Amino acid sequence: MAHYARSSGNLAADRRYDYARHSAAEGDHAVAADLLMQTVELAPSWPAAWFALGEAREASGDATGAIAAFERTALLDPEGSFGSTLRLARLGAQASPASPPDAYVRDLFDQYAERFERHLLKGLAYRGPRILAGTIDRACLATGRPNRFGTAIDLGCGTGLAAQEIGPRCEVMDGVDLAPAMVALAKATGLYRKLEAAEMRAFLEDYADATVDLVLAADVFVYLGDLEPLFAQVARVLCSGGMFGFTVQVATGPEFNLGPDLRYTHSRVYLERLAHLHGWSIAALDEASIRQDRGIDVPGLALVMAAP
Ligand SMILES: C[S@@+](CC[C@H](N)C(=O)[O-])C[C@H]1O[C@@H](n2cnc3c(N)ncnc32)[C@H](O)[C@@H]1O
Repeated sequence: MAHYARSSGNLAADRRYDYARHSAAEGDHAVAADLLMQTVELAPSWPAAWFALGEAREASGDATGAIAAFERTALLDPEGSFGSTLRLARLGAQASPASPPDAYVRDLFDQYAERFERHLLKGLAYRGPRILAGTIDRACLATGRPNRFGTAIDLGCGTGLAAQEIGPRCEVMDGVDLAPAMVALAKATGLYRKLEAAEMRAFLEDYADATVDLVLAADVFVYLGDLEPLFAQVARVLCSGGMFGFTVQVATGPEFNLGPDLRYTHSRVYLERLAHLHGWSIAALDEASIRQDRGIDVPGLALVMAAP
């Protein structure tokens, strides 16, 4: 998803950009690329136009031209909010980043927030929190642990769907999400004790050692490749017998990969290695698709790891 709402400050450039957007939406990517070339000539420092040019060139089969446009976007957008490094990785022009830029995820979900639930629940048949709730049930049965938790943290809480599903079995639930617009919607549910718009690993740093009973992450790790630093923080805050429940999209490679849909996938072997690193047991694991892509179930896993 791209970021289109910004003006170049040059009316003629803005107009060409709008025509280009229209052509791209009609599937006419070569025409869009021509119009965007004119746009960047008029407004050479406008990252939105360079990014759109990269997209139009990529869609019309001009990979070399797309790489040049995304490289220019990256220079003009040091925060990385367009996610051009992900596009460059997908085109083979650079290695996949270990995680996407925070600004990219934040902007993506800030723009998406209003239609998130409608689109995800109806359009993509999203059922992450419900599946995770079932996996937690099985994990509690398997370990003999009561299915009640004191303090829970919902990482990447989005609009608060996990709190609706899993909140009733927790005394308090805190939440964190990079996107302020998602946090505002989560706040409106009234289900969280504390909510912050922040990066999830930084958010965990505020918790004392061994003070949290349950950590959740439903459909969040598709936006984080290297899980190791985050898992280390989770291991620190989880109390003895605490649980960590999350979903992933399944990788075919050895550890984690950036897929063509610009989401990260993780392999089972990688997750088992991380569990082993912290002395966690895998209390329950379900092979389950939590979402569809163009009507087809995306293969996924829901896991609950239990701290010793
Ligand atoms: C697909 S949504 C899922 C939301 C929610 N967990 C649910 O099940 O409905 C992924 C969410 O994770 C958030 N997110 C991704 N990476 C994050 C990070 N590093 N720190 C905090 N939030 C993050 C996004 O902003 C987005 O709201």
